[in-house]
Amino acid sequence: MSADSSHIKRSLSSNGADDDKDSKKARVERFVADQQLLCSQSIPTPHTPHVIQTTRLPDALRKKILVTGGAGFVGSHLVDLLMSQGHEVVVLDNFFTGRKANVEHWLHHPNFSLVRHDVTQPILLEVDQIYHLACPASPPHYQYNPVKTIKTSTMGTINMLGLAKRVKARILLASTSEIYGDPTVHPQPESYWGNVNTIGPRVRSPANFDFFSLL
Ligand SMILES: NC(=O)c1ccc[n+]([C@@H]2O[C@H](COP(=O)([O-])OP(=O)(O)OC[C@H]3O[C@@H](n4cnc5c(N)ncnc54)[C@H](O)[C@@H]3O)[C@@H](O)[C@H]2O)c1
Repeated sequence: MSADSSHIKRSLSSNGADDDKDSKKARVERFVADQQLLCSQSIPTPHTPHVIQTTRLPDALRKKILVTGGAGFVGSHLVDLLMSQGHEVVVLDNFFTGRKANVEHWLHHPNFSLVRHDVTQPILLEVDQIYHLACPASPPHYQYNPVKTIKTSTMGTINMLGLAKRVKARILLASTSEIYGDPTVHPQPESYWGNVNTIGPRVRSPANFDFFSLL
């Protein structure tokens, strides 16, 4: 091999190393950019194809919020709102009537956690606020296993109130007009006392408590 050709080879291989370095750097930069993008929005899924942007809140304003029943109808929409506001959200659900697909678009997000758990069992979590929505809401679901519904409404609520007391969190308990029985007035004002048949199917309605929120 001549001196010239070995020089060309050396220069080619050093260019290759530079190219390698550059492409690695570009890959890392692309990866970081992708991560930043993922931290700022939901990802489109078949269930939720639209993208929801998330705000970046300063630490002092960002709350840790527990949403029980967060995979259900009301809960999953509340989760979208809280996530878009930039809070840290923990969804706790046993998927009795809720679906993972309802919150799947947040699974990648660092502000989001999903816990499969039954609220009738105690749980310890550090949170600032609790939205307690875990209870089947539609009559066929809450009448399917009445004893379980009563346990969810009572033991589940006692567990969440206990947690709120322990960690000094604010709590909101969702209930339903179903607790007033088959209504004779619609919509029911706060002054309405209800029309409950105490031996009828609505006795076991979700959250048999006459209060909507505890703040
Ligand atoms: N949907 C409405 O129009 C409406 C109106 C007023 C009040 N509410 C109240 O809001 C709450 C939620 O209603 P929804 O329509 O979202 O119902 P939903 O059935 O869609 O959601 C309830 C969620 O709670 C979960 N869950 C049930 N039992 C559980 C348990 N033991 N442990 C953990 N998770 C459990 C379910 O899997 C589901 O994800 C209910 O208390 C309901 O009475 C609903």
